[in-house]
Amino acid sequence: MKKVLILVAAALAVLPLGGASRKKAVKASKEQTVVAVPTVEKTVIPISTDNTQMVLVAFGKGILHTYHYGAKLTDPGEYANFNSRMGSNNGDGPMTYPTQGGKYVSEPALSVKYADGYRNTELCYVSHTQSVRGNVVKTEIQMKDYVTGLQVKLVYDAYQKEDVILAHTEITNGGKVPVELENYASSSLFLRGDKFLLTHTYGDWGAEMQVDREVLTHNMKVVETKRGTQATQWNNPAFMVSMDTDCFSETEGEVIAGALCWSGNFRLSFEKGVSHNLNIVAGINPYSSEYPLGAGETFVTPEMVWTFSAEGAGRASRNIHSWARHYGVYGGDQIKPALLNSWEGAYFTFTTETLLRMIDDAASMGLEMFVLDDGWFAMDYPRDNDRQGLGDWEVNTRKLPEGIDYVAKYAHGKGLKFGIWIEPEMVNPKSNLAQAHPDWVVRSPGREIYQHRNQWILDLTNPEVQDFVFSIFDNTMQLSKDIDYIKFDSNRAINNFGSDFLGKDQSRFYVDYVQGLYKVMQRVREKYPDTIVQCCSSGGSRVDYGSLRYFDEFWTSDDTDAMERVKIQYGTSLFYPACTMASHVSAVPNHQTGNVTPLKFRFDIACAGRLGMELQPKNLSAEEKALADRCISSYKVWRDLVFQGDLYRISSPYESDYYALMYVSEDKSRAVVFTYSTNYLNRAIGTKTFRLRGLDPQKKYKVSEQNVDTSVFSANGKSLSGSYLMNGGFNLNLFKTFQSAVFYLEAE
Ligand code: GLA
Repeated sequence: MKKVLILVAAALAVLPLGGASRKKAVKASKEQTVVAVPTVEKTVIPISTDNTQMVLVAFGKGILHTYHYGAKLTDPGEYANFNSRMGSNNGDGPMTYPTQGGKYVSEPALSVKYADGYRNTELCYVSHTQSVRGNVVKTEIQMKDYVTGLQVKLVYDAYQKEDVILAHTEITNGGKVPVELENYASSSLFLRGDKFLLTHTYGDWGAEMQVDREVLTHNMKVVETKRGTQATQWNNPAFMVSMDTDCFSETEGEVIAGALCWSGNFRLSFEKGVSHNLNIVAGINPYSSEYPLGAGETFVTPEMVWTFSAEGAGRASRNIHSWARHYGVYGGDQIKPALLNSWEGAYFTFTTETLLRMIDDAASMGLEMFVLDDGWFAMDYPRDNDRQGLGDWEVNTRKLPEGIDYVAKYAHGKGLKFGIWIEPEMVNPKSNLAQAHPDWVVRSPGREIYQHRNQWILDLTNPEVQDFVFSIFDNTMQLSKDIDYIKFDSNRAINNFGSDFLGKDQSRFYVDYVQGLYKVMQRVREKYPDTIVQCCSSGGSRVDYGSLRYFDEFWTSDDTDAMERVKIQYGTSLFYPACTMASHVSAVPNHQTGNVTPLKFRFDIACAGRLGMELQPKNLSAEEKALADRCISSYKVWRDLVFQGDLYRISSPYESDYYALMYVSEDKSRAVVFTYSTNYLNRAIGTKTFRLRGLDPQKKYKVSEQNVDTSVFSANGKSLSGSYLMNGGFNLNLFKTFQSAVFYLEAE
């Protein structure tokens, strides 16, 4: 039986809020009556995990302050004596959820336009509750604006073991007339310090998740997107702040990390103030998104994931990964099959025979699933290239006369699972769908609908379109009962937006689009709980914890060049666990970059995530097939560490000529170590010694090099102590570009 303990704000001593004291009004002038706000006694609200704590304090007019986010205190009540010593010309101290209004004139988390055109909101603490459900302590803080009746509930779910706090906000229009939300952030965090080193990502198609670092200067830094779909192709809604330092460290110092669970336009603002402070506001991007809220209606913001680490960036990543695997990612606790995807091997040109031979080859190399990518559908406008057919989801029986079921059954017969590609949110103008439903397309009156990759976007704000998109998933699943995996793609961003369905309410578009997608995925998950679903989006363009609630994994990047993947996978690893990161070995010269990298290097990179291959296996030599065979079979021995182990980054490709990382089992009895040389180093310079991390110093580990016939590593086959491996380390003979080595460590 689940035990729910309600700790009704026993420590609270709120003055009576009803009756006379609230109604009492102060005459300001002949024309205006000022609504009196009751006084609140000092109330300390600790939001704790096993090792961390946020401390919020309300008092006076009920303004809620964030006094602490950091290490867990022995007595958070001591904050009752704290004086923030902040001047009152910008609010009354460090506000937990700053609003436009009152004395506050910096970046608001909330601003509301009321029916009379006024925009001031002053939130006052009313009450709070805390309840425990297993590993999660929920804190709900009720706030209110006494003039307009607006009610705001701040909700925090504190994941004890993972040291992660999820925050979201519920905004209710308690008045009698509609209002408009102009800013409606999920969460805001006030931090004290003098130096804040921000780490965030940027990029573009084929070069996602590049890492940028900067010491914040005074005023405002914003990381955001306005792309609608493909929200994370340029920037990701996740970041780290290293406190009081200008050095990024994996192992030392206080780090606060955050990630917004939203698959659309987001905005993260970092405002460094003169009061030795930083204020972070994180949420849906208010850009072109004023949101109407009728009387009595509630808007629930997306969740914001927060974590604090006193042991550098490594621990911050591990906290988020651990939360993600247990709670944040659909199927995050499962091991996923190693697969062959048809895209780079066959593109649009295949017959049933082509696919059957690829399945045979996949089976012979030990792969566990075959995924049929784009090109299998549309008859009138056959999908033989990306210029037509998208939207017409009938099987192309000229290409595949025996149908999908035949191919899927064949795969199952060979012991492989079967997956198939769809892109149900999009349509080529050259398709029956575009002709039948022009009103479903994102467009605005009198304006050209621009194409990107020759396609338009369907308007997911429209429930009819949501039904259609769901039906595409559903109908595809009906093509064969042997479909185990869907690759769900979405290959363009939104511009020139408009919705026939929303009429005059166009400013709802960006928010309702994402909610429409989530409604579809909710239905998908209710009907197909066991199907593995990949979030593709051109690779890297919908990588966020909003989508991962429904998707098992994402396609990390369309750039499959192993050297390019070094930085992409490093950047991704800061915030997302390896179990979500699809990573494929492709052919050389690489189809995106033209570079030629050794097959071993390609495998060593791909094995650090969810391994796959994406090439025509019949073009591999016998020697290459043997290497593939070897790498796939050793991967199966320790991939549980890649999927479920704790990540330790041991060398950054940004600060060194080497990228190195390792995954360690929870009990520290097993580990897998990956090392890559990304540059040529003259022998005289010498090679790097990799000091391992996260092992048990007392344990002895048997070291065995993987993915090679004969190891030249002197420690291969030897037993070395955790103490030696972490303090002495691996001295590897890696000095040429593209050299790499993978080691499996097992405690004896
Ligand atoms: C996108 C995906 C690729 C592939 C193609 C198919 O680019 O990222 O993996 O599925 O679409 O058109």
